[in-house]
This record gives sequence, structure tokens and C-alpha cells, in this order.
Amino acid sequence: MILDAQNIEMSYGQLKVLHGVSLQVEEGQTFAIIGPNGAGKTTLFKVLTGERMASAGTVSFRGQDVSKLPAFKRARLGFGRTFQVARIFTELDLLTNVVIPIEARIRASGKSPGHWWSWEPSREVRAEAEDILERLGFPRQRWEDEAQYLSHGDRKRLEFCVALATRPGILMLDEPTAGMSPSDRREMTRFLARFKAETGITIVMTEHDMDLIFELADRLMVLNYGEVIAVGEPAAVRDDPMVREVYLGKGGQHA
Ligand SMILES: Nc1ncnc2c1ncn2[C@@H]1O[C@H](COP(=O)(O)OP(=O)(O)OP(=O)(O)O)[C@@H](O)[C@H]1O
Ligand SMILES: [Mg+2]
Repeated sequence: MILDAQNIEMSYGQLKVLHGVSLQVEEGQTFAIIGPNGAGKTTLFKVLTGERMASAGTVSFRGQDVSKLPAFKRARLGFGRTFQVARIFTELDLLTNVVIPIEARIRASGKSPGHWWSWEPSREVRAEAEDILERLGFPRQRWEDEAQYLSHGDRKRLEFCVALATRPGILMLDEPTAGMSPSDRREMTRFLARFKAETGITIVMTEHDMDLIFELADRLMVLNYGEVIAVGEPAAVRDDPMVREVYLGKGGQHA
């Protein structure tokens, strides 16, 4: 098991947002968390990655209790993530956005990413950044563009490149298609499916797009008001009467 969270409780001031949430993710699995707006999905992500500390409960990563570790230490252990709203350096070009986390990863491992006298990335670092950009479908002629000129969908894609550059053991995707056009969304779904098949990486994701969920998820958990109301194979969860009522209901437009 790569990730094991037990009885997570979390409050913002007086507002209790997570009520004893537990989840287990196996190596190589794609584990999806769904639930209505405000259910606590992003909060759960923050607790898992260490951006917020739970008020109770434990998080273990590959058997190690990481509950008390801050986000940067969990990142070094292998947590990579993207955000509901993409976080990238908008004034830097695409290539530099990917070079930075590669260099950081190399430094964190105690090695030097290149010659100390040079501002340029080393040949190896540059080649790795180029490979990631290429694999995610950014053509060479755009590598020097500033990230601020990217479309929303491309920003999310670049953020994905940044997450991959850290070579994560587990990839945490908070709504990878948030705010995307339907065609960008389909492209992202295809990309994730291919990426998952090629790398076998473990993914934990939240998503509102049900087509994407049913295409990608091996396991599905439903949160409602900070409580787990169902977890299991996606098809079984979809057909669970309680899930239909609280989430997929309203005419069953998502089912
Ligand atoms: N920083 C914060 N301070 C106070 N309350 C917060 C904070 N962040 C979230 N909340 C509240 O916590 C609850 C859960 O929010 P959260 O963002 O985790 O939900 P979500 O499931 O990710 O929703 P969405 O589908 O809209 O992204 C909501 O009631 C929200 O208003
Ligand atoms: Mg959210």
C-alpha cells in the first residue's frame, strides 16, 4: 500500500470539514475522490500532502507515518501534486518552468544540477525538461513563450509537466480538468489514460467530470459533508442508491 490515511479530522476554526475520513491507495492505482462542491475534497488533499495538518488521524506513505511532516518533506518522499487553479511561474517561459523543479529535485538528492558558474541549465537537465514538454504535447516553437500567454487548459498541462519533473511516487491531481473546454477535457482524459498505462504511476485525483472518472479510476470514493459515504469499484459506487441520491441524483445527469 502506498498511501494509508486513517480517521482524518480537520476543521477551519469552528467549521469541521472532515469527519473521520479513511482511505487506502495501492501502488499503481488511480484513486478518485468525488463529491459535491464544499464536500471537503481539496481539504483532504491538503491534509494528505501536508499543506494542512489534520486535527486527528494519521497519514502514512509507503509504511512511514508522515502525519507530522510539512509539505516540502512529503514532496521529497514522493508526493507530487497539481492544484485546482494551476500554479506556475507565469513570467517565465515553459522550459524554465520545468527546469526549476528538475534542478530542485537534483539538489534535494545532494547532487549538483550543473556547473556553478553557468546560469544555463545543464545539458541533461535541459534534455529532461524538453522530453517532458514534448511528451505532454508542447511543440518546440512554444518552449520559449512566457507561461502567462498560455490558455487555461495549457496552463494545467504545464503544471502537470512541473509535477512530473519532481518524479513523484504518487501524483495528486486536484481537478485536472477544472475550467477546461470540453475538447481540452477530452484531450486531458486521453493524455492521463495514456500516461497511466505507460508509467503505471499511482494517482489520487478529485474531479467533477464523470466521463473522466469512469474512464480512469480503479477505485472511487464519495465524500459528502466531509464523510465517506461510499468507496469501491467505480461501477458499484455509481449504482449505490445513497450515492445516487446525494450526488449523482438530480435527474441522474452524471450517471
Ligand atoms: N481556508 C479555508 N478557510 C475556511 N473554510 C474553508 C477554507 N477552505 C475551504 N473551506 C470550507 O471547507 C469546506 C470544504 O471545502 P473544500 O474546498 O475542501 O471542498 P471541495 O470538495 O474541494 O469543493 P469544490 O468541489 O468546490 O472544489 C467548504 O465548506 C469550504 O467553504
Ligand atoms: Mg476543491
